[in-house]
Amino acid sequence: MAQCLSFLLILIFFSTHIHACSQTERTSLLAFALTLSSPSLNWTSSNCCHWEGITCNQDDSVTQLSLPSKGLRHNESISPLSSLENLTHLTYLNLSRNSLYGSSGQTRLFLSLNHLEILDLSYNFLSGELPIFPLSGSIRMLDLSSNSFNGEVPSSFFQRAWNLTSFNISNNTFKGSIPSSLCFTSSSLIRVLDFSFNKFNGSISPGLGDCSKLKVFRAGNNNLSGILPEDMYNVTTLEQISLPLNSLYGVLSGRILNLTNLAILDLQFNQFSGVLPLHFGKLSKLKLLLLQINNLRGSLPPSLMNCTSLIELNLGTNHFEGDLSMYNFSKLSRLRKLDLLKNQFTGTFPTSLYSCKFLKAIRLSANDIVGQIQPEILSLKSLSFLSLALNRLTNITGAIKILMHCKSLRFLSLASSFEEEEVPADFGMADFDGFQNLVFLDLSHNEVTGQIPIWLFKLKKLEVLNLNSNKFTGPIPSLLWTLPRLFFVNLGFNLISGEFPKELCSLPMLVSQNNNLSTDDLELPIYSTKDGGKTGVQYNSNLLYYPRTIDLASNSLTGNIPIEIGQLQLLRELFLENNFFTGKIPNQISNLKQLAYLDLSMNHFSGNIPASLTSLNFLADFNVSFNNLEGQIPTGTQFQSFSASAFEGNPNLCGSPLPNKCQPPPIDGDDNNSRDVNSEHQVPWILVSAVPGFVVGFWAVCGSLIFIKTWRYAYFRFLDNAYDSLYVMIAVGIKRM
Ligand SMILES: *[C@@H]1O[C@H](CO)[C@@H](O)[C@H](O)[C@H]1NC(C)=O
Ligand SMILES: *[C@@H]1O[C@H](CO)[C@@H](O)[C@H](O)[C@H]1NC(C)=O
Ligand SMILES: *[C@@H]1O[C@H](CO)[C@@H](O)[C@H](O)[C@H]1NC(C)=O
Ligand SMILES: *[C@@H]1O[C@H](CO)[C@@H](O)[C@H](O)[C@H]1NC(C)=O
Ligand SMILES: *[C@@H]1O[C@H](CO)[C@@H](O)[C@H](O)[C@H]1NC(C)=O
Ligand SMILES: *[C@@H]1O[C@H](CO)[C@@H](O)[C@H](O)[C@H]1NC(C)=O
Ligand SMILES: *[C@@H]1O[C@H](CO)[C@@H](O)[C@H](O)[C@H]1NC(C)=O
Ligand SMILES: *[C@@H]1O[C@H](CO)[C@@H](O)[C@H](O)[C@H]1NC(C)=O
Ligand SMILES: *[C@@H]1O[C@H](CO)[C@@H](O)[C@H](O)[C@H]1NC(C)=O
Ligand SMILES: *[C@@H]1O[C@H](CO)[C@@H](O)[C@H](O)[C@H]1NC(C)=O
Ligand SMILES: *[C@@H]1O[C@H](CO)[C@@H](O)[C@H](O)[C@H]1NC(C)=O
Ligand SMILES: *[C@@H]1O[C@H](CO)[C@@H](O)[C@H](O)[C@H]1NC(C)=O
Repeated sequence: MAQCLSFLLILIFFSTHIHACSQTERTSLLAFALTLSSPSLNWTSSNCCHWEGITCNQDDSVTQLSLPSKGLRHNESISPLSSLENLTHLTYLNLSRNSLYGSSGQTRLFLSLNHLEILDLSYNFLSGELPIFPLSGSIRMLDLSSNSFNGEVPSSFFQRAWNLTSFNISNNTFKGSIPSSLCFTSSSLIRVLDFSFNKFNGSISPGLGDCSKLKVFRAGNNNLSGILPEDMYNVTTLEQISLPLNSLYGVLSGRILNLTNLAILDLQFNQFSGVLPLHFGKLSKLKLLLLQINNLRGSLPPSLMNCTSLIELNLGTNHFEGDLSMYNFSKLSRLRKLDLLKNQFTGTFPTSLYSCKFLKAIRLSANDIVGQIQPEILSLKSLSFLSLALNRLTNITGAIKILMHCKSLRFLSLASSFEEEEVPADFGMADFDGFQNLVFLDLSHNEVTGQIPIWLFKLKKLEVLNLNSNKFTGPIPSLLWTLPRLFFVNLGFNLISGEFPKELCSLPMLVSQNNNLSTDDLELPIYSTKDGGKTGVQYNSNLLYYPRTIDLASNSLTGNIPIEIGQLQLLRELFLENNFFTGKIPNQISNLKQLAYLDLSMNHFSGNIPASLTSLNFLADFNVSFNNLEGQIPTGTQFQSFSASAFEGNPNLCGSPLPNKCQPPPIDGDDNNSRDVNSEHQVPWILVSAVPGFVVGFWAVCGSLIFIKTWRYAYFRFLDNAYDSLYVMIAVGIKRM
C-alpha cells in the first residue's frame, strides 16, 4: 500500500514535471499551431517549455513566444493570434516576417495579454484598426510596421502604456493626424516613434514636447502639412528627425539649433522656405543633412562648415546662392556625398573640397560655377560620381586630361558644363589610357568638334555614352560595337555623316541578354529624361534600368537602314529622325520586340509602312512623318491610336489616322464598313498602347528603385503623387543632364 502510494507520488511528481507548462497554455499553443497551414511546428513533446520558439520562466509559465521568419501561414479566416489569449504570462511575442493576415485576432491579443512587454508583428499582412481599448500597461515596445493596418490611431490606445519606449507603425495605411500627444497621455519614456509610410495628414500638432526622452522621430512619406510644432525644439534628446516627402512648410526656426544631439535631419521633398539658421554649426553631431527639393534660399551660413561629422550634405533643388569658393569645406573631413544640384551657387569649384578625402560623390550641376577643374581633384581617391552639368566652366580639354586619371570615377557628366569653346574631339591626345572604370559618360551640349575619338573605345566598362548636341563630324566609328557593355548611345544633333554602320547592329548588350552590367548603385540617384523628355523622367540610382537606346537623330546620315537592325532585339528606343536616310523601312524592325519609341521622321524613306511593325506591342510612340512613304497605313492596329501628325508629310500615305482615305480598291470596297471596323479597333488599341507605356514607365521607375532600399518606397510614392511636378521641374532645369 505504502509502496503503491509512493509509486503514485513519484508518478504525480514526474507527471507534473513532465507537463511542466500548464494545460491551458499547452492547449492555447496547440490551438495556435492548428490554425497554421504551414509549416508544421515540431510541437509534440509533452513539455511545451521545450518547444521551438517557447521560453518559460522558473514557474514554468510560458513567457516568450518567438517564431520570426518561420514562413508561418494560417488556414483561412481563423487568426492564430486569438488563440494566444490564454498565454497570460507572455512578456515577449515575436511573429515578425511571417504571412499572418486578417483583422480579428490582434484586438483580443492586445486586450488579454496583460504582461506583454514586447510585441513584434512587423512584416505580416495584418489589417484592421487599432482598438480604442487601452493597450497593456506593461508594453515597452510595439512594432506593427509593414502590415496593412488602417484607420486612425486612437489616443485611448496608449492610455495605460506608461512604459512604452518604442512604437513603430511605419508602412501601413493609417490616416488622420499623427498621435503627437502620445507622451502626454501615456509614456514619457518614448525613445523611438516611426509613423513613416502611412497616410497621416494635417499638421503635426503639439505634444512631442512632452517626449523628453525621444531620440528618433520619423514620419516621412505621409501627407503632412503645416509647420513644425514649436515644442519639438524642446526635445533636446532628438537624434533623428526624418520627415521627407510631405508638404511641410515654414522657415527652419533657429530653435532647431537647440537640438544639439541631432545626427540625422531629413526634410527632403517638402516646402520649407527661408534661410538656414546662422549658427547651424551648433549641430556638430549632424551626419546626414538632407534638404533637397524645398524652397530654401540665401547663402549657406559659414558655420555649416563646423558640422564636422557630416557624411552626406544634400541641398539640391533649392534657391541657395553665394560664391561656392568662399566656403571652406576642408573641415568636413568625413564628407562622402555633396549634392548641390540646381541652386544658384556662383564662383569657382571650391578648392577646399579637395581636402575632403573621403568624398565619393560631388554634384554641382545646374548652378553657375565658372573656372577650371584643378589637378588637385585627383587627391579625391574615392571619387566615383562627378556631375558638373549645366555650369559655365572653361577648359574642357584640361578637365578631361585631369579627370581621366580619377581611378575610381564611374559616373561623369559634363553635359553643357562648359562655356562655348570649340575643342577637338580627341582633346589633343591621340591616345590615352584613362577613365578605366568609367561606366557613364555624358559630354552632351558642348562644342566638341572633329571625329568621334578612338580613345572612347578603350573604355571597356562604358555602358552609357551621350555625345548629343556637339559638332562631331565624320562617320559613326564601327569600333563602337566593340564596347562590351555599351547599351545607350546618343550621337544625336551632331554633324555626323556616312551610313548606319552594320556593325552597330551587333552591339553585344543590345543583341542578347547577358548579365555583364555592373549592378552597383550610383552614389547619387540621377535624373534622366526618357525619349528626349517627351513623356517623363526617371530618378534612378542604378543604370540597369536606363533604356537601351540608339539615338542618331539630326545628323547627316545617308543610305538605307541595314536589315541587320533586326538583331538589336533588346533595343527600347531608336531615334533616326532628321537625317537623309533612304530606301524602305526594313521589315526587320519588327524583330525589336522591346521597342517603345521609334522615330524615323524627316528622312527620305519610301515604300509602304511594313505591316509587320504592328506586332511591336510595346510601341508607345511612333513617328514617320515627312518621308516619301506611300500606301495604306496598316489598319486595325495601334497605329490608329497615334495622332495623324505621326504620319503627315507623306503625300502618298493614306488611311486612318490620316484624314485622306485610300483609293477604293478595284473591287468596290464598303468604305463605311471599313471605317466602322477601324473605329471598333481603335478603342482597344488605345488601351493596349497606353498600358504597355505605363507598364514600361512603371518598371523603369520601380525597377531601378529596388536597388536603393531605403528610398525605394519613398521615391515610388513621390513619383506616384507628384510625377508631374517633378517632371516640370526637371524639364525646366535639368533637361540636359
Ligand atoms: C484548413 O482547415 C481545415 C479544417 O478546418 C482542413 O480540412 C484543411 O485541410 C486546412 N487546410 C490547410 C491548407 O491546412
Ligand atoms: C522534434 O523535436 C524533438 C525534441 O523536442 C526531437 O527529438 C525530434 O528530432 C524533432 N523532430 C524533428 C522532425 O525535427
Ligand atoms: C524579432 O525577431 C527578428 C528576427 O530574429 C529580430 O530581428 C527582431 O529584432 C525581433 N524583434 C524584437 C522586438 O526583438
Ligand atoms: C482560453 O481559456 C478560456 C477559459 O478557460 C477557454 O474558454 C478558451 O477556449 C481558451 N482559449 C484557447 C484558445 O485555448
Ligand atoms: C514599468 O516599468 C517599471 C520598471 O521596469 C516596472 O516596475 C513597472 O511595473 C512597469 N509598469 C507596468 C505598468 O508594467
Ligand atoms: C520601423 O520598421 C521598419 C520596417 O517595417 C524599419 O525599416 C524601420 O527601420 C523601423 N523604424 C525604426 C525607427 O526602427
Ligand atoms: C512595406 O511593407 C511591404 C510589405 O510587407 C514590404 O515589402 C516593404 O519592403 C515595406 N517597405 C518598407 C519601406 O519598409
Ligand atoms: C485628412 O484627410 C481626410 C480624408 O482622408 C480629410 O477629410 C481631412 O480634411 C484631411 N485633413 C486635413 C487637415 O487635411
Ligand atoms: C519648452 O520648454 C520650456 C522650459 O522647459 C517651457 O517653458 C516652454 O513652454 C516649452 N515650449 C513649448 C513650446 O512647449
Ligand atoms: C533653446 O533656444 C533658446 C533660444 O533660441 C535659448 O534661449 C535656450 O536657452 C535654448 N535652450 C537650450 C536647452 O539650449
Ligand atoms: C566653428 O567652431 C569654432 C570652434 O568651436 C569656433 O571658434 C568658430 O567660431 C565656429 N565658426 C563658426 C562660423 O561658427
Ligand atoms: C587647361 O587645363 C590644363 C590642365 O590643367 C592646363 O595645363 C592648361 O594650361 C589649361 N589651359 C588653359 C587655357 O587654361
